[in-house]
Amino acid sequence: MRFVDILEKKRDGQALTTEEINFMIRGYVAGEIPDYQMSALCMAIYFQGMTRQETIDLTMSMVHSGDTLDLSGIPGIKVDKHSTGGVGDKTTLVLGPLVAACGAPVAKMSGKGLGHTGGTIDKLAAIPGFSSELSTEEFVQQVRNIGIAVAGQTKSLAPADKQLYSLRDVTATVDSIPLIASSIMSKKLAAGADGFVLDVKVGSGAFMQDLSQAQELAETMVGIGQGAGRSVVAYLTAMDQPLGYAVGNSLEVIEAIETLKGQGPSDLTELCLTLGSEMLVMAKQADSIDQARDMLDQAIASGAALDKFRQLIVAQGGDPGVIDDFSLLPQATYRLEVKSDHQGYVAGLDARTIGNVSMHLGAGRRHKDDAIDLSAGVLLHKKVDDLCRRGETLATLHSAKPIEQALVDLVQQAFGFSEAADSSPLVLERIAAE
Ligand code: URA
Repeated sequence: MRFVDILEKKRDGQALTTEEINFMIRGYVAGEIPDYQMSALCMAIYFQGMTRQETIDLTMSMVHSGDTLDLSGIPGIKVDKHSTGGVGDKTTLVLGPLVAACGAPVAKMSGKGLGHTGGTIDKLAAIPGFSSELSTEEFVQQVRNIGIAVAGQTKSLAPADKQLYSLRDVTATVDSIPLIASSIMSKKLAAGADGFVLDVKVGSGAFMQDLSQAQELAETMVGIGQGAGRSVVAYLTAMDQPLGYAVGNSLEVIEAIETLKGQGPSDLTELCLTLGSEMLVMAKQADSIDQARDMLDQAIASGAALDKFRQLIVAQGGDPGVIDDFSLLPQATYRLEVKSDHQGYVAGLDARTIGNVSMHLGAGRRHKDDAIDLSAGVLLHKKVDDLCRRGETLATLHSAKPIEQALVDLVQQAFGFSEAADSSPLVLERIAAE
């Protein structure tokens, strides 16, 4: 087989066979196919797309490029959740303990944040002492002991994706639905769960800004899961404004704890209940979505979900005192209130701008090896549909360094106003295999 023939075939819009896809992934990981040829193939895929079967083959080939996690030692149906990334998305911190408290084992591999979006591992790092570096044995044993573990993704899972993603990043080929879907699903499948609930974000703060593209991505990922014999349900959820009020690692841990105490913002709570009930049904801990929702409400009201979070913190070396004393979390040296120049109802709050401001304050990374300031971020005081008077505080900026006026201006510009409230839904659509 010659790679140039594969390239020619895809360039001309023909479908590649399973053998050709395996040849290409094996050869690329082994260093036998150079970056310049693989770049050309990514560009051909970008323009010609892939069939459902090609996308499944590509995903499975990437899964088999490295180790796969064996979760069979953990009793029960293991259900994972994945978000395509947003601003203020601390869902895993709430959902993990909440679902685990209702009996579904949670074996969660998570990532770090990049650019305007955050990552679960960074948020957990704000808890003093908390370590996300677990060996596979420790990870599995912890889920067996307390029903939940959250660890950073090991380098040995789907290494082909890591290599391919870096190449796509510098060849303008990230935005291809078969490449994104296979990238996400290869990591998920390698991490070993039996089923997945996917949160596909749509809007200004999301990877997919357009509803029809998000639908296509969700349908493709559901199809890959089905092809791999796993259950997958995807939700399309709005990411035009940040989720909750807190953006930035320490601030988001506080909001997650408040949500586990039953005092969280309504959008974050609603999202956790929606995704969580789907997970409980998939894990066969509940017979229906309604029953699952009641179980989740009860786990919050009884304190069981918060207790599970405390157990998680203790098991991974963190200080559980943060649950009752937020001053134990990293605190910003500089805080600045941003005031409104306008009067009216908040009609828009651009999530991407707020994510970027948070990154510039120190909460996020421009490049993947940048250090971050765990205390930094944006605490919103107003969100879409809130009434705001001139001079009222829109947001408080937190940072370890003096805060530039340009960031204040950006936050003011992120807000749009209108004369009347006009709310839009958070959960847009549910997509499952037919
Ligand atoms: N996230 C991933 O893991 N892969 C992509 O290709 C895009 C987003």
